[in-house]
Amino acid sequence: MAAETETARTAECDGLRLPPGPGVNLLMSVLQQKRWVDPIAHFSHLAENYGDIAHYRLGRRHIVFVNHPEYLRQIFVVQHANFVKERTQQRAKLLLGEGMITADGARHRQQRQAAAPAFHRQKMAAHAEKIVRRASELREEWRAGELHDIHREMMLLGLGIIGETVFRTELGDEVHALNDAMADIMEVYNAIVLLPGIRLLLQIPFTPLRKFVHARAKLHRAMERLIAEHRRRGADASGTDLLTMLLEAQKAQGWSDEYVRDQVMTVTLAGYETTAIALTWTWYLLSQNAEAERTMFEEIDRELEGRLPSYEDLARLRYTEMVLAEALRLYPPAWAMGRMALHEFELGEYRLPAGTTVLASQYVLHRDARFFPDPLRFDPERHTPEAKASRVRGAYCPFGMGPRQCIGEAFAWMGGVLVLATLAQRWRLRHDERHTVLAEPLFTLRPRGGMPMRVEAR
Ligand code: HEM
Repeated sequence: MAAETETARTAECDGLRLPPGPGVNLLMSVLQQKRWVDPIAHFSHLAENYGDIAHYRLGRRHIVFVNHPEYLRQIFVVQHANFVKERTQQRAKLLLGEGMITADGARHRQQRQAAAPAFHRQKMAAHAEKIVRRASELREEWRAGELHDIHREMMLLGLGIIGETVFRTELGDEVHALNDAMADIMEVYNAIVLLPGIRLLLQIPFTPLRKFVHARAKLHRAMERLIAEHRRRGADASGTDLLTMLLEAQKAQGWSDEYVRDQVMTVTLAGYETTAIALTWTWYLLSQNAEAERTMFEEIDRELEGRLPSYEDLARLRYTEMVLAEALRLYPPAWAMGRMALHEFELGEYRLPAGTTVLASQYVLHRDARFFPDPLRFDPERHTPEAKASRVRGAYCPFGMGPRQCIGEAFAWMGGVLVLATLAQRWRLRHDERHTVLAEPLFTLRPRGGMPMRVEAR
């Protein structure tokens, strides 16, 4: 309570009105309770103790955690022009450079405009066949009884798909090296975004952090090769794959090669990692929920009658899509979002200063019983058209909201459903119970230690 009094006093002095919260002592309390290594536990604690909105300070910085769809809409939609990406996302520039996820303002708008046509729904049909072909190749490789790390399998599949569909290139065996480089980066990712003075620390040789530098260099080289090959081959017939568009924008806007590389890297990582994680959690949840699994298998068998799925089948694979939607609710790959205010702003009854960081967590919001009763239960029926229409607007936001909502959303739904349907025609996956399931909130919500699952013939 002492901390709350402190917060209220500060508010009076500055003419601000700050929400309740743990006040100025958060750093100490966080360190004592080790919540700093578990941001989801920290956010859940704030939501449980302070409700829809909580305020605290880290040093001189004001931080607000919001956990109500209306507050999220205010920040990400209604008042979006007053916000830029917050500090930890700025730190992601160390990995992603000036790509669409980390850029702000005019740069971001330019990039999004240049890339948008590649993500248009009409482009999707052309990609569907390639996705299904890749998934069916994987389906042929698996043998009954084999134990696979499904996380790794989905990541490799996802990389191959993004390479071929978005950049029109064949990554081949390179997917292994790229995926290993990403794994190395993720091992130290939290240190990268949280440690003070990280740019200097990264210069010191022979530290575990150097892993990040080497892995990033590997990714850069791969992206540069991808761009060089594309240049050699020239634009595709329709001239509309993403790389063609980026290279045209480069000519028109005078972008540097490095700038284009950052954008390619952003879309590759944002595209494959998130979708692969979503699929991994979906397979795990299906293995734990026999009825949902049976209903999905029945739909796939009934609608496809044994042939491979196509773009046109998506409209008929509704339950499969609901399964994916429910996995995205319980384990949203993008588990949190953040912004920083450029100017003083109002949020409900509160008035907050310029520079305030606003954080929100899809993971916490999606498990709030006010919006999803019995929230831990896996129930795809929460995503029927009727249920969606009666849902509180903004309570379900695995792809974010507002002008920075995921540009690849349509691609992710299509890819996710097609991969599930293709693999599930032949296989069911069983979780290896010796492995403890733990969601690790890094750049995405990864399963710690992968996801070992046994392949069983259906
Ligand atoms: C299940 C899969 C996916 C999930 C859960 C997801 C989630 C998200 C979220 C929440 C954001 C907004 C972040 C924010 O506002 O701070 C975002 C942005 C973005 N996503 Fe996705 N995404 C997925 C798949 C994809 C795919 C397949 C691609 C590309 C092929 C992609 C590319 C991007 C890009 C470039 C942005 C930045 C957009 C901007 O700032 O304007 N994502 N994604």
